[in-house]
Amino acid sequence: MTDTQSTSHGLENLLHETRAFPPAPEFAALANAQASLYETAAADRPAFWADQARELVTWRTPFTETLDWSDAPVARWFADGTLNAAYNAVDRHVEAGLGDRVALHFEGEGGDTRTVTYADLQREVSRAANAISALGVGKGDRVVIYLPMLVESVVAMLACARLGAPHSVVFGGFSADALRSRIADAEASLVITADGGFRRGAPSALKPAVDEALQGQGTDTVKHVLVVRRTGQDVGWTEGRDVWWHDAVDAADTFHEPEWVDAEHPLFILYTSGTTGKPKGILHTTGGYLTQTSFTHKNVFDLKAETDVYWCTADIGWVTGHSYVVYGPLLNGATQVIYEGTPDTPHRGRWWELVEKYKVSILYTAPTAIRTCMKWGDDIPGGFDLSSLRVLGSVGEPINPEAWMWYRRVIGGDRTPIVDTWWQTETGAIMISPLPGVTATKPGSAQVALPGIAADVVDDEAHPVPDGGGGYLVLSEPWPSMLRGIWGDLERFKDTYWSRFPGIYFAGDGAKKDDDGDIWLLGRVDDVMNVSGHRLSTTEIESALVSHEMVAEAAVVGAADETTGQAVVAFVILRGGHAAKAETPEGSAEVSELLRAHVAKEIGPIAKPRRVLVVPELPKTRSGKIMRRLLRDVAENRTVGDATTLADSSVMDLISAGLQTGG
Ligand code: WTA
Repeated sequence: MTDTQSTSHGLENLLHETRAFPPAPEFAALANAQASLYETAAADRPAFWADQARELVTWRTPFTETLDWSDAPVARWFADGTLNAAYNAVDRHVEAGLGDRVALHFEGEGGDTRTVTYADLQREVSRAANAISALGVGKGDRVVIYLPMLVESVVAMLACARLGAPHSVVFGGFSADALRSRIADAEASLVITADGGFRRGAPSALKPAVDEALQGQGTDTVKHVLVVRRTGQDVGWTEGRDVWWHDAVDAADTFHEPEWVDAEHPLFILYTSGTTGKPKGILHTTGGYLTQTSFTHKNVFDLKAETDVYWCTADIGWVTGHSYVVYGPLLNGATQVIYEGTPDTPHRGRWWELVEKYKVSILYTAPTAIRTCMKWGDDIPGGFDLSSLRVLGSVGEPINPEAWMWYRRVIGGDRTPIVDTWWQTETGAIMISPLPGVTATKPGSAQVALPGIAADVVDDEAHPVPDGGGGYLVLSEPWPSMLRGIWGDLERFKDTYWSRFPGIYFAGDGAKKDDDGDIWLLGRVDDVMNVSGHRLSTTEIESALVSHEMVAEAAVVGAADETTGQAVVAFVILRGGHAAKAETPEGSAEVSELLRAHVAKEIGPIAKPRRVLVVPELPKTRSGKIMRRLLRDVAENRTVGDATTLADSSVMDLISAGLQTGG
């Protein structure tokens, strides 16, 4: 555990927020969620989830067991039931006569479009499942997916699910080395990728990163690479290994019998940053995950599948893309928009143009995007018809009240409820959120644990704090979509989440309860940063920095940033022979640029530090622990706080003096 200084800054600001927005009676009258859900769920939590599982999921073999917590902290939900995730997401809707309903409105960055109905999706997924199976992938085999946001990306995930082959999606912005380590850890037998995707108006290649990754250590489990043609760029080709998607999939049969799996069969592994350098492969299984993603998608967004057009702007490379682009919405038979590109290409009104074009009624995005649009000005969304919107969602990081108010006023026309949804890769689905039509919403607060979820804020001794108090967010009862472990590392799973407060799940977030008992999230309390809603580990970036020959030591902090929430700031000590390079301001700038590029290459552009500062020393306690709190003061241009516990208290003066002279 490191210091919680950054969270206490947030606390003071939030203590002054008192606005509340009760639901409009017209909305409440038609809302999916009713207040009684809380009581029903509290009366018998497992029974409540069993009811949801029966109502929202179609089982091949009905389950008779609900929750088995005897092997805690590894839960088993609905364990004797069998089902298939892709069947639930696609086939059953076609069987119910909804084959003509649009599942996906795809919009490429350059404006090319594709409309996919549920019947189309059934054919595509079945074909892809046949093609992937012909490449030797079967039940239990892992498939790494490294793709941009395309129809094929959704199809690929569902095809794996159809085969009972756990997918592990790696965000397209990760580097070859990050991809390599994930392929190796998952021991994948197939990689699905594309030549590239369109980003900011230009083709951006992906295949070369796969080729490079597969030359690296630990990847010889990979037998084939299936390649989607998107940009038409030239690609390197390994005969016998590489296969074009259009050759293999288009030729495959459109019938495929789903592989019926046990409820606890692994559905996917998704790697996320932890407090150590090594990413954690978060493992999710089938029955409980599908139950909670569909339940939350239906109730938190008030989805009316016949009439709503839903759009979640997340990439499938993140958990939000898994739960709220692929599984939740498709299980509920939703019609949704998926968009390949960035919000400002070719112009800054691109998102709002899409809302107008498709009459999007539910929009789910991240605070960093909202703050960016806020910065661009009201005129831009003001130029489009956004009157179709009726529910707005936020996820990924705390949303500051100003951004929340702007979202409601400018995007929501002062009319739409906003749901600020707190959850994690580990929780699989939304855990804390207002329910539209039920909760009077407060700007900046995720507020209440959903029906069937037990969340609390506790102090250092695991005692719940009173209303008005602050502490650590915990989850005290198992929930259906909870992670079942870290791939291949049960001990790390127990240690990371269950050892801080024995028997209860430690989320790693600071939180406070207001006088009504509502929960306000205050950011991470561990060495995990949140940059634009993406989780990054300080340790991982530090290891990337010290892997460069110039660097002797590195310390990374997340400094507050108006737009991205936090920004990566690195402090480095250069090795003896290189120290002279940074003695002039120009030299220092050059070193900094080199190291920023190095991190981008090692981990990916998202991890690139905003600033790299060359320093003569790092502030350490007598036990050798780096005091990041003090570095954060420097990074945020604050007066440096109490440095009396430093082994050498003059270090901070040295650092500050050095930075002023540019050295
Ligand atoms: C943060 C993303 C405040 C939090 C779904 C959590 C939030 C981490 C919120 C998980 C929110 C997510 N308010 N903080 N509404 N939602 N977070 O795994 O620190 O990428 O622990 O999952 O994001 O990030 P992850």
